[in-house]
Parts: sequence; structure tokens; C-alpha cells
Amino acid sequence: MKKYLLAPSILSANFAMLGEDIKNVLDSGGDVIHFDVMDNHYVPNLTIGPMVLKSLRSYGITAPIDVHLMTKPVDALIKSFSKVGSNYITFHPEASEHIDRSIQMIKEHGCKAGLVFNPTTSLSYLDYLMDKLDIIVLMAVNPGFSNQNFIPNTLEKLRKVRNMIDENGYNIIIEVDGGIKIDNIGKIATCGADMFVIGSAIFDSSNYKKVIDCMRQEIEKSSSLLK
Ligand code: DX5
Ligand code: ZN
Repeated sequence: MKKYLLAPSILSANFAMLGEDIKNVLDSGGDVIHFDVMDNHYVPNLTIGPMVLKSLRSYGITAPIDVHLMTKPVDALIKSFSKVGSNYITFHPEASEHIDRSIQMIKEHGCKAGLVFNPTTSLSYLDYLMDKLDIIVLMAVNPGFSNQNFIPNTLEKLRKVRNMIDENGYNIIIEVDGGIKIDNIGKIATCGADMFVIGSAIFDSSNYKKVIDCMRQEIEKSSSLLK
């Protein structure tokens, strides 16, 4: 079976004991840590910056960290996040004045680069830069908060992006962010996602491993039905 990546979103973690909570979620089978950066300007919420990522690295977190910038502008933060141990940096195209420049900046700093599409953001942003992307993130909720409901037409958009990538043979990861639970992850996998951001479904549970194992089983079940 292809390798699916589960990316726990620390927006729902316990910030009073963040390092420990992240260690727990990684020990429970999380693959990548999803790091939601909100500026109370591009989105109506305020979270964490590069200092926190730096402290997590010093604390001993070695797993890949996926920085999701929900900020406007993006370039200054791309620079600071790339210096403190980020692996992926993604941003919303509406938030950058020069998308190609921001993408290049991420790559020049040695990180993998991606664009994030809000539920109603057009895929036309992909027209002239598919060949430069390592990752495409499809938001299944409006960005800003965890624990919102999955917007169903994300699945149609997901199938479209899957086809665009497969038809052209690009090596791009598709990540889906928001509203992912045990009961819909299988369907999202069959529509073409490679990486799943999961916040509240994991961190609001009392047994992270149980949820993660269950999600992997659901993915496996739905992918084997496809064969
Ligand atoms: C929303 C964030 C998501 C969020 C996902 O703006 O980008 O990463 O934390 O949380 P859940 O899984 O609870 O929808
Ligand atoms: Zn996110």
C-alpha cells in the first residue's frame, strides 16, 4: 500500500505542555507535525511563531514539521521559519504579493514548498507553477479554527488535483486540512489525498494511538475496496 502520512495539528494540542504532548502524539504513530501559524489578520485567530518551533527542536522533537502560514504577508515569516527547523512551509496564494518569489524563497532555504487552497480558492493558481511545488494543501474548512465540519465539495476538488498530478507525472504531495475524523478519512484517501491533517479528532481524545490506528485501518479498508 502507498505510504499515507498522518499529520497531527498542534492547534488542538495542550499548549501548557506542548513538547510532551507532541512526543506523545509521535509515539502514538503521527508522521509529521502540522504547525498552524495564525496572525489575527489573514485569519481571525492568533497562534504561534518561529520561537516555539525553535524550542520544540531544542526540546528534542526530530519529526518533520509542516508549517502552515495563515498570515499576510508571508515572506518575512518564510525566512524566519526556514531558519529554525521547518521541513515544509506552505502559504495561501492570496496572502503573497509574488507567489513565485515566495515559493523560491522557501526552496532556497532548503524547505519543501506548498500552496494552500481555501475552500473557494480557484485551482487556477496552479496554472504556471505546478512544476515548482512539492505539496498542495486543500483546506476542507475555512482557516482559523480547529474542530469545524468538513466541507463536502473538497472531495471534488481533491479528485481534480489528483488527476492533474497523475496526468502530468508530478511528484507532489496532496495534503487535506480540516474536519478529518475517523468516519471520513477513508473516503478522503480514495479521492486522492496523501497526507491528512488531524487536529481535534486526535488531541480531544483520551487515547491518541487508538484514534491514529483506527484512522490507518479506515484508510486501508477503503483503499483495498478500490482494488
Ligand atoms: C485550520 C487549521 C487546521 C486545524 C485542523 O485553520 O489549518 O490545521 O487545526 O483541525 P481539525 O482537524 O480539528 O479540523
Ligand atoms: Zn493547518
